[in-house]
Amino acid sequence: MSPPSLVRWASLFVLGMTASQVSAIATISAVGAKFFNSSSGDQFYIKGVAYQLTDDDPLVDEDQCKLDAALMQELGANTIRVYHVDPNENHDGCMSAFADAGIYLFVDLETYNTSISQSAPEWDSKLLDSYEKVLDTFQVYDNLAGVFVGNEVLTTANGSWAAPYVKAAARDVKAYRDSKGYREIPVGYAAADIAELRPMLQDYMACSTNSSEDLDFFSLNAYEWCGDNTYEGSGYSELQKNATGYSIPIFFSEDGCNTSPPRTFEDQSAIFGDEMADTWSGAIIYEWIQVANGYGLISYGPSVSATATGSDISDGFTVKGTPTPISPDFSNLKSVWATLTPTGVALSDYTASASTITPLACPAETSGVWNVDPSAALPTLGQAATVSDSASATGSGSSSSGSGTSSGSSASSTASSSKGAAAAGIVSPGAGLLGSTNAVAIYGTLVAFTGFMAWWL
Ligand SMILES: *[C@@H]1O[C@H](CO)[C@@H](O)[C@H](O)[C@H]1NC(C)=O
Ligand SMILES: *[C@@H]1O[C@H](CO)[C@@H](O)[C@H](O)[C@H]1NC(C)=O
Ligand SMILES: *[C@@H]1O[C@H](CO)[C@@H](O)[C@H](O)[C@H]1NC(C)=O
Ligand SMILES: *[C@@H]1O[C@H](CO)[C@@H](O)[C@H](O)[C@H]1NC(C)=O
Ligand SMILES: *[C@@H]1O[C@H](CO)[C@@H](O)[C@H](O)[C@H]1NC(C)=O
Repeated sequence: MSPPSLVRWASLFVLGMTASQVSAIATISAVGAKFFNSSSGDQFYIKGVAYQLTDDDPLVDEDQCKLDAALMQELGANTIRVYHVDPNENHDGCMSAFADAGIYLFVDLETYNTSISQSAPEWDSKLLDSYEKVLDTFQVYDNLAGVFVGNEVLTTANGSWAAPYVKAAARDVKAYRDSKGYREIPVGYAAADIAELRPMLQDYMACSTNSSEDLDFFSLNAYEWCGDNTYEGSGYSELQKNATGYSIPIFFSEDGCNTSPPRTFEDQSAIFGDEMADTWSGAIIYEWIQVANGYGLISYGPSVSATATGSDISDGFTVKGTPTPISPDFSNLKSVWATLTPTGVALSDYTASASTITPLACPAETSGVWNVDPSAALPTLGQAATVSDSASATGSGSSSSGSGTSSGSSASSTASSSKGAAAAGIVSPGAGLLGSTNAVAIYGTLVAFTGFMAWWL
């Protein structure tokens, strides 16, 4: 190669690098029961944080995203979960800020006024249209790791009649994704940890022999492991038992009980260790910002008066600016994550066995517990549940999240169920992001939660 052409070749190479580096992040794909880095074929484990600073879309302020992404990178996070976005906004700046920091996004497709309701389950074109808008907006980003068709649609032990509507939503979002020629962005559901419905709910979401009707992944908002506990005592051994042999990826979409501060995040060693890493794909810690619920990993400044107002202040907290780690929780999580780097399995070694995984059987109908006929077709678009569907759904409206096992102490089980619900659907910024009908259902749950009231008072 003559010197001039070498120079030209070299400069083209440099230009090419610069242009592609802007958005050069490998996509994540779901194969069998695991996630993979599509570029290297390495298994991908989620080390995530829930990121919703206020009720507003957190992915529009590029400067803020850059500040947060840098500190998340220092924490060792590779994923954020966002509960509410506005599909009409421009997300380019934030999505590249996170991509540049090696951070992926799982985003909820539901919005304030569009979500599936447990109290009146329905799946219709208004919901589908709004879910499609969010998918259209975000599918362009290579660091979109997956989408949720619902967050805690089922909130109580008698909510099983809503499960088919969640599954119908996933079916139609997947069909839309494929019809548009988008890449196979994983479509899943984030479930409340309701002991009475486990493992039926989880099995149901992945039990169809036609994979177009199954979720691409399932995830659990679980607050079972509080403070100093063990794999057995926390209830995690039961979660593991229930997930063994599962045919799609499963992970914690919220995690991080805070009833025994400071948080040491001991459970991460089980999730990313020998006990669970062969089955589970990681965890998303609730949550980035410190607000009244006390789950924050960072704060943007000292708390201010509850009645203070200002553009950067919401409910007594500064919600914008330079993030400062909350001590010692932030460094505890950073240290524990730094020691946990499971290698998992390489895609090339896994593909053959992935093709032989058979879905677990659809759960049998059990009156008063699991009121879903395993042989019934999924709801069609426009279908709503009728009273006869709920005729047998007369089980207790109370819910016991948490381990609910005799091995877990009842005190910690109560605490984790109330706090779990608080973080997942009531006190958290995510709570306000649920549809109004869903909010009513959650309010019903709250009323039923004597444990919650006991904790709150
Ligand atoms: C994915 O693989 C590429 C190499 O092909 C690597 O550069 C990148 O860091 C990997 N991403 C993750 C999240 O491991
Ligand atoms: C949903 O809420 C948004 C913002 O509050 C509003 O602009 C939109 O019209 C609402 N959509 C429906 C279908 O009610
Ligand atoms: C699988 O399910 C999809 C979505 O419901 C449907 O369109 C397709 O016809 C089904 N395939 C088979 C072989 O039944
Ligand atoms: C699932 O977990 C429950 C406890 O939550 C346990 O009673 C049950 O035996 C487990 N089922 C399976 C199939 O492992
Ligand atoms: C579940 O129980 C609650 C409280 O008893 C009740 O209000 C609700 O209607 C029940 N839901 C179903 C689907 O039966």
